[in-house]
Amino acid sequence: MNEEILQQCFKAGKVASQVRRETAAKLAKPGTSYLQAMDFAEQRIIQLGGQIAWAQMAVNEVAAHFCPDENETGVSKEGEIIKVDIGVHNQGYIADNAMTVIVGSSKEYKYLVKAAQNALKAAIKLVRPGTQLWELGEAQSSEAEALGYRTVKNLSGHTLEHYKVHGGISIPSYNNKTKTELKEDWQIAIEPFVTDGQGLIKEGVSPTIFMVEQLRSARTPYARKILDEVKTQNGLPFTTRWLTRKLGKGPALLGLKELQQHGIVRAYPPLPEVSKGMVAQFEHSMIVKDKTTPYTRHEDDEW
Ligand code: CO
Repeated sequence: MNEEILQQCFKAGKVASQVRRETAAKLAKPGTSYLQAMDFAEQRIIQLGGQIAWAQMAVNEVAAHFCPDENETGVSKEGEIIKVDIGVHNQGYIADNAMTVIVGSSKEYKYLVKAAQNALKAAIKLVRPGTQLWELGEAQSSEAEALGYRTVKNLSGHTLEHYKVHGGISIPSYNNKTKTELKEDWQIAIEPFVTDGQGLIKEGVSPTIFMVEQLRSARTPYARKILDEVKTQNGLPFTTRWLTRKLGKGPALLGLKELQQHGIVRAYPPLPEVSKGMVAQFEHSMIVKDKTTPYTRHEDDEW
């Protein structure tokens, strides 16, 4: 992998890890507005010299894919477990990382959070050229099970590519028998989701996260304005409030509807655990080498 690309990744990773930690620390205090926390995360990415790939969060039984819209009134509450998933890029080279915090002083889900952290750590230790994907999966599920939990089987890590969140290869969080081997210089994100529920998520309702799926011309001016607005994301996600704030709620929602109907834009709804189990997640991005340190690792991270 060329040195310049590596540097872009490392630079994105520094910003992503810093913003992840700062945002999570805010949400860990009871009474923090979800909306303000996510606005903060986006502003902070820019302030630290990164480009926004996404800033997302998810609460309790929701595993991922929540972005507050502009009318969101939710605040963090004692005992909630909140996932913060931050994506930063530099010229399309992405750092993807996530962590879980328990709000306030509750200890109820301490071991659930620990299990997710252990799962990530165990998988990272196996990352090197030649490791088969099932091995990474098994490492994660066995750490979760050691503390009495399960990994969420229908969520997985992924390869990262230039301006692509999902490079096409999934990294399982259980032994799914995939014998594909990691190759040197692959850019990957490992992200175990661990739950006290059944270990499966479904698609929820009211999506606020979208991606352009197929760039085609749109019919109405509303839809065209949206495509124009999200052009700089270059296929990376965007969220409803960016559009409603800029174009007004009516036009933004109408435009989004049209774009989805024509298959130009795809919605990524929140992902609740099917049995309403609590979900914890940790994630790091790394380049596959003989010795790998995630480039989203922060000096204050336990893992
Ligand atoms: Co990811």
